[in-house]
Amino acid sequence: MEKASLRIDKDARVASIDERLYGSFIEHLGRAVYTGIYEPEHPTADGQGFRGDVLALVRELKVPIVRYPGGNFLSGYDWTDGIGPRDKRPTRLDLAWKTIEPNEIGIDEFHDWAKKAGASVLGAVNMGTGTPKDAGNLVEYCNFPGGTRWSDLRRENGHRDPLGIKTWCVGNEMDGAWQICHLDAADYGKKARETAKIMKWVDDSIELVVSGSSSSKLPSFPEWDRIVLEHAYEYVDYISLHQYYENFGNDADFLASFHNMDRFIKTVCATADYVKALKRSDKTMMLSFDEWNVWYQRRQEPHDWARAPALLEDRYSLLDALVVGGLGITLLNNADRVRIACLAQLVNVIAPILTEPNGRVIKQTTFYPFRDLSRFGRGVALRAEARAATIETTHGDAPTVTAAAAFDEEARELTVFVLNANLSAEVALELDLRSFGKIEMTGRSVLAGPDLGAINTFEQPNAVVSADVAVEQGAAGMFSPKLAPASWNVFRFSVGK
Ligand code: AHR
Repeated sequence: MEKASLRIDKDARVASIDERLYGSFIEHLGRAVYTGIYEPEHPTADGQGFRGDVLALVRELKVPIVRYPGGNFLSGYDWTDGIGPRDKRPTRLDLAWKTIEPNEIGIDEFHDWAKKAGASVLGAVNMGTGTPKDAGNLVEYCNFPGGTRWSDLRRENGHRDPLGIKTWCVGNEMDGAWQICHLDAADYGKKARETAKIMKWVDDSIELVVSGSSSSKLPSFPEWDRIVLEHAYEYVDYISLHQYYENFGNDADFLASFHNMDRFIKTVCATADYVKALKRSDKTMMLSFDEWNVWYQRRQEPHDWARAPALLEDRYSLLDALVVGGLGITLLNNADRVRIACLAQLVNVIAPILTEPNGRVIKQTTFYPFRDLSRFGRGVALRAEARAATIETTHGDAPTVTAAAAFDEEARELTVFVLNANLSAEVALELDLRSFGKIEMTGRSVLAGPDLGAINTFEQPNAVVSADVAVEQGAAGMFSPKLAPASWNVFRFSVGK
């Protein structure tokens, strides 16, 4: 049997974990909003038309922050279309996804939905067709107490108190030729800088995310990031990264996607640190990985100016869920620089939650690793580098066993997440937790199975679920669990004082 070892030292801290690492994303795209989070005719809908069955699952995921309203949609969106009396709101063409946008949901309603979900809003301003002034007006509308044109309009529209949106993305994927009013790096860098100045003048308590590369595969990466930061470094707090993974036919390569994500993060850090040095700045730029997931981009459906068509509704397999687990581990291991991350997206559109219009809701396979990470990946991230065999993949030599650890010092709870990326062999793990002193395993769950292609359907919603398994105690802080082939493993421990 293959062997691996993992020693976790309670003093080897990566960083205190920002809970926003478990953020997600709702875009005006396909059925994310309409028949996703919002469907007034649905039997579980509340007084505002929000689906209760969906809200319950979002709460189960403990998502702390949700990016809104896009995405590519953002770059053609006029936020004023989505405020005020519904019957006066315009119906528009959404040029990003070639659909019809009825504007029944806007920033006021989304704020209320997020509050019900227990999340805050990661706002976003349009840097495509939008101007710096529009962005400032939106911040005024959302965050200024009152007595001005936009803040008073918010009060008239039902929110006496400011919405208090504290973090904002300055545009979306402005490096992409597909973006509405795409810019080159210098033009975007200047526009982002001037927009950031206005936004922070309106509310100096906000934090801003500048648009970095929308894929490490783009030829403009990492030059784009360098140039944008050279223009905007002093005015922003985070640079964004986006990356999606898909299976091009080799499961081992696909499972090693985490290795590629790690390299992407490290390269963006190096680029940002170069600009920091160039500018003799004391500020370290943090990262917002505000779009990440598995996405089968080659399976795009043709559609034609429909309202809320079923777009990007990938059905996720067990293998996809394992990949999501590996990516989550990588985010946690980079928690010193990645402060915000958004699983893209949350409902229906490449999402862990899938609804039927006027019908049922299910948890996709990817729901489980994301829920485990969000629930238990809190506190302090500790170094967790496993010694394991490596396999040659298109992402380089990747370890077959990869892990992350989160220690909640107050609750004295340690969680160790382990992905066994070995597709065919069980791995005997030697888990050394001696530095914690008195320690006891209190829970263990596994997501694995004989069919990596298995998915959850409305007829068989529990075909792939993560299962609790019996705990095995170790001797004097040493544990020896066996990891099933291709498995996502969560180990929970209680640590004595
Ligand atoms: O999440 C789907 C799309 O992916 C987003 O609209 C865009 O930002 C990215 O290309």
